[in-house]
Amino acid sequence: MKRVVVIGAGAAGTMAAIFAASSGAETRLLERTNDGGRKILISGGGRCNILPAVVHESRFVTDSSPHTLRKMLRSWPLSEQIAFFKDEAGIPLMEEGESAKLFPQSERARDVRDRLLALARARGVVIETGALVTGLVPAGNGWQIERRGGSSLQADAVVVATGGLSFPGTGSDGLGLRIVKTLGHTINRTYPALTPLTTTVRRKPGTTGGAPFAALLGISLPVTLTARAGTLESTSTGGFLFTHHGYSGPAVLDVSHVAVRSRAEMDAPARLVVRWTSLNDKDWESAFGSRGSRTVLNAVAAQLPRRLADALIEFAGIDLCRTLSQLTRDERLRLIDILVRTELPWSGDEGYGKAEVTGGGVCLSEIDPKTMESKIHRGLFLCGEMLDAFGPIGGYNFLWAWATGRAAGLGASRT
Ligand code: FDA
Repeated sequence: MKRVVVIGAGAAGTMAAIFAASSGAETRLLERTNDGGRKILISGGGRCNILPAVVHESRFVTDSSPHTLRKMLRSWPLSEQIAFFKDEAGIPLMEEGESAKLFPQSERARDVRDRLLALARARGVVIETGALVTGLVPAGNGWQIERRGGSSLQADAVVVATGGLSFPGTGSDGLGLRIVKTLGHTINRTYPALTPLTTTVRRKPGTTGGAPFAALLGISLPVTLTARAGTLESTSTGGFLFTHHGYSGPAVLDVSHVAVRSRAEMDAPARLVVRWTSLNDKDWESAFGSRGSRTVLNAVAAQLPRRLADALIEFAGIDLCRTLSQLTRDERLRLIDILVRTELPWSGDEGYGKAEVTGGGVCLSEIDPKTMESKIHRGLFLCGEMLDAFGPIGGYNFLWAWATGRAAGLGASRT
């Protein structure tokens, strides 16, 4: 019987262990924390956005080959994943409104974590918690796995599913990345992704230099946001939230990697441009077209939260009491430009401490996309967030973890 050791009882590792054991391998799952699956527990605000309802593969980000990424992703199609959760894990799913996000019907992330670990045990996986793996050494045709404070283990195949660097309190602090680097793998530059952006500067609306929107704390609305820096560009339509420190919400998180990378890797910071509503220039021209005695504020507030409407009109340098008929052409064009293309000031990001995922990671070209086996070492399998790939908010990152975890578990059991 094949002996498989899986390192890390997160989303990818637990799935790898389930499939390795289901294929007949003697499987041991080593987890450094005293429970495992901590990111599952805090995901989706405690409800776990377990999968997307529809997958747009082009929304994944990698510095490796997007073609290889797609092959890995397609190894376990969405429909089969949904069926697995319902039929095998006992976790029926539901779509939240028309959000294209799937959640467990119970809306409890804990159920997802607990049922996956229970399924692993039921399939014969031995789960060892409080087991910190410190090193991997090729030994004969297999591997020697070094544990802190314990004897080393032998295995025919080892699956590394130790995550990246985001939310280190959950157990993923980059140790696994360091271990595979010492084994010769290339780690493409890592960076926090899906992280809130900050703005520390303060200024009065309409003046130059600083944060014109500091007073808007708590306002949330759907927007379209684009971040551009050099050849990097990302656009997202979704929720936007003014926070104490700056901006958050799905649209901000989705494009944040461009901002983060511009600070770390480029000469100039990314430009963030927001369109506050679904209206374009022409639509706003018609909205303002009736002129008459309606105030500019009422016309803008018909489409936006009033406090934001106030701030944007002031930002355009227009008196809030002006009526539409009093607006000059220049003022109208300036206001429309702001409503459709406000350049958001920002100064930083909240880093790995608040990042939902890690960008960058193990270069995909060094992994066989069918089995997730390392092309550098036989019997070494890698999966999940530690790889150079991440997707947007909406269940994409679990989709990646489940698909690559399953493929790695199956691959390891067949070594
Ligand atoms: P993950 O980091 O989950 O697991 C790695 C495991 O390995 C951990 O249990 C860790 O303790 C263990 N480990 C690390 N080093 C070890 C060592 N040396 N020895 C032993 N064990 C070790 N995605 C999504 O699709 N929908 C969502 O709703 C959310 N929501 C969300 C919210 C928040 C706050 C965060 C931080 C993240 C999300 N995500 C998400 C992202 C998602 O949680 C993430 O992509 C996956 O959990 C990654 O799974 P992995 O198993 O690869 O790593």
